[in-house]
Formats: sequence, C-alpha cells, structure tokens
Amino acid sequence: MRAQILIAFITTIVGCAMAADSTLAATPPMGWNSWNRFACKVTADDVRAAADAIASNGMEAAGYVYVNIDDCWQGDRDEQGRIRPNAKFPDMKSLVDYIHSKGLKAGIYSSPGPKTCAKYEGSYGHEEQDAQEYANWGFDYLKYDWCSAEKVYRRSDMTAAYKKMHDALVRTGRPMVFSLCQYGYERVWRWGASVGGNLWRTTEDITDQYDRMSVIGFDQDGLEPFAGAGHWNDPDMLEVGNGGMNHDEYITHMSLWVLLAAPLLAGNDLSKMNQETLDILTNREVIAVDQDAEGVQGRRVAQEGPLEVWAKPLADGSVAVGLFNRGESTNPVNVNFKDVGARSSVHLRDLWQRKDLGSFTGSYTGDVPRHGAILLKIQ
Ligand code: GLA
Repeated sequence: MRAQILIAFITTIVGCAMAADSTLAATPPMGWNSWNRFACKVTADDVRAAADAIASNGMEAAGYVYVNIDDCWQGDRDEQGRIRPNAKFPDMKSLVDYIHSKGLKAGIYSSPGPKTCAKYEGSYGHEEQDAQEYANWGFDYLKYDWCSAEKVYRRSDMTAAYKKMHDALVRTGRPMVFSLCQYGYERVWRWGASVGGNLWRTTEDITDQYDRMSVIGFDQDGLEPFAGAGHWNDPDMLEVGNGGMNHDEYITHMSLWVLLAAPLLAGNDLSKMNQETLDILTNREVIAVDQDAEGVQGRRVAQEGPLEVWAKPLADGSVAVGLFNRGESTNPVNVNFKDVGARSSVHLRDLWQRKDLGSFTGSYTGDVPRHGAILLKIQ
C-alpha cells in the first residue's frame, strides 16, 4: 500500500514536471509583445514605454500583464557562453525590475536553433545556461521560436527540443510561461501541453491585413478540444491599432480572438494609440469572454457563404456569440438560439455597445457591416 502511494506520488511529481503548468496560464495570457509593431528596431526604451502605458492607460486594470520582448534583443555570448543582450538593451535586469515595479511581468524570446528567425543568437547547445540567465534577469515568460532549428533537428526531434528547454526552465525554479512558436507544424495542439507548453502558435505569422487576420482566425475551427486551463491554442498576436485594418475589421479581430480563448498580446505602439484602439483593447465585457473561467474555446456553429456564427459557452451558463460578415457589404446575420445550445427564450446583451437588447424567442438577426462583427452574450 505504501509502495503504491509512493508510486502515485512520484508519478504525480514527474507528470507535473512534464505537462504544462496550469497555474501559470489558468486563463489565456494577456499582455503586449514588441514584434508586430517594432520588429527588429525594438529598444529597451520602447519596452519601458509599453510598460508605462499598460500601467497607466487602463490596460493593466483590464487584465494585461505580460510585457514581452520578441526577437532582436540578443548580443554575443561571453567566454563562458553566457548570452549577453545587444546595445539596445544595456541592462536587462534593470529593465525587468522596472516592468515588475509596475506590477507587470516580463517576457523574453529565443529559438531552439542556433539562430533566431531574425538571425540573432539562438539557444541551441546553451539551453540550460539561457534558461538560468532568463531566471537571473527575472523573466516570467519565454517565447521559443523554431526558426533555424530546422537546420539542426529533424521534425521528429521537435518535441524533444521543446521539452529540453521546458525542463531547463523548470530546473531554474522560477515559474515561466512557456510559449511554443513553430507555426502549427506537426499538429502541435496534440502534444504542446505534454512538453510543457502553456500556449502554442497554430499558424504562420499574422499581418496587419484583414485577409491574413481573417484567414487565420476563421481557420481555427476544430482546434477547440485542445485548449484549456494552462494550455492554449495561439492564433498569433493582435494587430489592433497598427493601422492596416479599419475599425470594423479590428472589431472582427478582437471578437474572434476572445471567442477563441486566444492569448491577447497587443502588438501596437501603446504609447501612441488613439482612444478608439484603447477602447477595443480594454472593453471589459469583451475581455471577460476570453478570460472566462470555464476555459472553453469557441467554435463555428453556422455558416452561410461569407456570414458566420461562432459561439463560446461561458462559466455562468450563458453563451458568447459572434455574428460575422466576411462579405463586401452590410448583411443581416441570423443566430438560431438552439444552434448555440441556448434555450429558445433568451435575454441578449451587445458587448461592444455595452447595451441590453432585451428578450428574444427563437432567433436574433443583426445587421453586420462589411468585414465587421457583433458580439452578443446570450443569457
Ligand atoms: C517568427 C515568429 C514571429 C516573430 C519573428 C521574430 O516569424 O513567428 O512571431 O517572433 O519570428 O523574428
């Protein structure tokens, strides 16, 4: 009996060390990442400015926590092989301390390959050392991007390459969210959590264009069984506010991402954004759909040509529903309450308008603008 208890205990410990840590990303991670707006031009000052903005503009209060440096922070390795930041990041420790002083958390980026996607130093052969350095600096999050790993690993080694870094992170003793970025190769949603991934990219890169964003977002249907507390599908970071889409298109972007229980990593210049962008990023009722405690990823429940209805069940028994119009002119989009698992008599609230619409029986039809969306809560 004692032996059985001991075996159960050891299995639990080993299991915990191997699987994604669900205390780290109990709901989809929220924050900011430098890549979509700053790419390789990013500096420590840009990152500080992002932290300042989140802490003062209402984003922190709305749930945004992580301030993540993407590619292009790396310099050379010293004689001991320790990774040094480049001249744009003169003091990583003080930058992370600064982010922490705002009540926020900090994220960093590397690759399992010898070089990152932008050809900076990767972690290949230095996994242990790099994980320790990130912990020394105080980081709370690592995005680990496949990039040149293709040159040194076979596809079949991919899980081992990711697990190697996860084990190194665990050994530092510092909890760090582990973000897998390998563009959905090898059906990562099937094994991402088993190598410690708290989130994994399901696609190639997003761009700030409606066509690209919508292809990625609307393509996520079917991946919902693989998402849950501690391990999320990641259809890539937000482009809201970067200027390549109009208001309705950004409303579609945000509505779809919250229905997908996607990580919400703003990708714009937070120090210069207008009120319209801030309103999209910080609508509490919309964010509550993403961060819902039930942790269910939404799915498509109806489609007629360019018109789509998506639904996400919520913890309080209500359902969040998106009415989407991918067409080129305003169209009525209809939701049948039975399609989304609701009763036939319901109460509706429009989450973008923050307005109760009243009681409805059977179905509801809303006029949705070209490339736009209506986000409803059905109670
Ligand atoms: C890849 C990733 C992007 C970004 C860049 C950085 O393309 O998918 O999100 O991290 O690399 O070089």
